[in-house]
Amino acid sequence: MAEAGPAGHSGPRPVTWSSSNSSRGAGPGASKELTQALGIRTETLIAVHFDKPGGPENLYLKEVAKPSPGEGEVLLKVAASALNRADLLQRQGQHAPPPGASNILGLEASGHVAELRAGCQGPWRVGDPAMALLSGGGQAQYVTVPAELLMPVPAGLTMCQAAAIPEAWLTAFQLLRLVGNVRAGDSVLIHAGASGVGTAAIQLARMAGATPLVTAGSQEKLQKAEKLRAAAGFNYKEEDFSEATLKFTKGAGVNLILDCIGGSYWEKNVNCLALDGHWVLYGLLGGAVISGPLFSKLLFKRGSLITSLLRSRDKKYKQMLVKAFTEQILPHFSTEGPQRLLPVLDRVYPVAEIQEAHEYMETNKNVGKIVLELLQ
Ligand SMILES: NC(=O)c1ccc[n+]([C@@H]2O[C@H](COP(=O)([O-])OP(=O)(O)OC[C@H]3O[C@@H](n4cnc5c(N)ncnc54)[C@H](OP(=O)(O)O)[C@@H]3O)[C@@H](O)[C@H]2O)c1
Repeated sequence: MAEAGPAGHSGPRPVTWSSSNSSRGAGPGASKELTQALGIRTETLIAVHFDKPGGPENLYLKEVAKPSPGEGEVLLKVAASALNRADLLQRQGQHAPPPGASNILGLEASGHVAELRAGCQGPWRVGDPAMALLSGGGQAQYVTVPAELLMPVPAGLTMCQAAAIPEAWLTAFQLLRLVGNVRAGDSVLIHAGASGVGTAAIQLARMAGATPLVTAGSQEKLQKAEKLRAAAGFNYKEEDFSEATLKFTKGAGVNLILDCIGGSYWEKNVNCLALDGHWVLYGLLGGAVISGPLFSKLLFKRGSLITSLLRSRDKKYKQMLVKAFTEQILPHFSTEGPQRLLPVLDRVYPVAEIQEAHEYMETNKNVGKIVLELLQ
């Protein structure tokens, strides 16, 4: 893998010299200007890094150049970040960051605004606490982010709790509302119900007036999902979740399936999908290859199979998503809100234990998010 460049920038910015620039001579101010224009930062920071794709043992902390915010961007001093499955895939060389994104791991972060460049939209001031949806770069002491992708930290939440919100909750919100078009009265089957995304989706489905059902791989995970108000849970290792779902819905099936498993679940999914139901595929933990009559089964259900990936969405879409989430959902994280939402944290690791954090996620034991505390 290439040397990590400044987060948020794929390389030095182009320099355009006007005649007035050149007539000023090469004093200290001019050299600082030139250095900044070239994107060269003398300051450094510590970030999670790996030199070649592979296992968690390849991860280490490295001193890299401090990122410089571009126009409309904020520099966030990171207090905490959280782990995502995409980090594991990126580390394995199976998930490249989208063009222009930092190649440092980390799709979300919480911290404080350290610097604002011209053109920043929103109420932000230096020192404000904030959390951010990122295309990468969160597992470092500083990260740059467009100001519109920042969200205020809900009152009463710690920085670690805030770091657990952006990726999982925006994904769950997007899958339910924008992609799955959930309605009050719908039944929603949420696979990996104890995952970061799953624990958020259960709460958001309830808030939308829907009935969330979950699958998970252990009794302990199902109990935790039920505490979050899942109406029922099925251990996919011990029973056929499709039969159990049909039984629960009195043969009707579910209106919506949030599926991050894919291959190994396809037939059971289509069997328990209601007529005209929506099946939203957003991950492939159970593989990408299938064999069998998917099309005919889906056609007879008049089912819709929709796919969704958040990270590769463009800035405009993400801004719209962050704005809608900030307005409609964030107030409900407050202790004074009508319905209390809670980010579910499993463990917090100091960033120096990044290898252990990846190893733990790979055991599939976590309920909710695995959070990293950055060096301060
Ligand atoms: N498309 C998007 O925009 C987007 C955004 C964010 C996340 N995602 C995807 O969403 C999924 C969940 O992410 P997360 O960070 O919330 O995950 P997570 O907290 O790490 O939880 C994932 C859980 O999935 C279950 N699982 C793993 N392999 C499985 C398999 N083969 N069959 C059945 N269950 C399996 C395990 O729980 P059990 O004990 O229940 O088996 C595991 O703990 C990932 O696939 C991730 O890539 C997609």
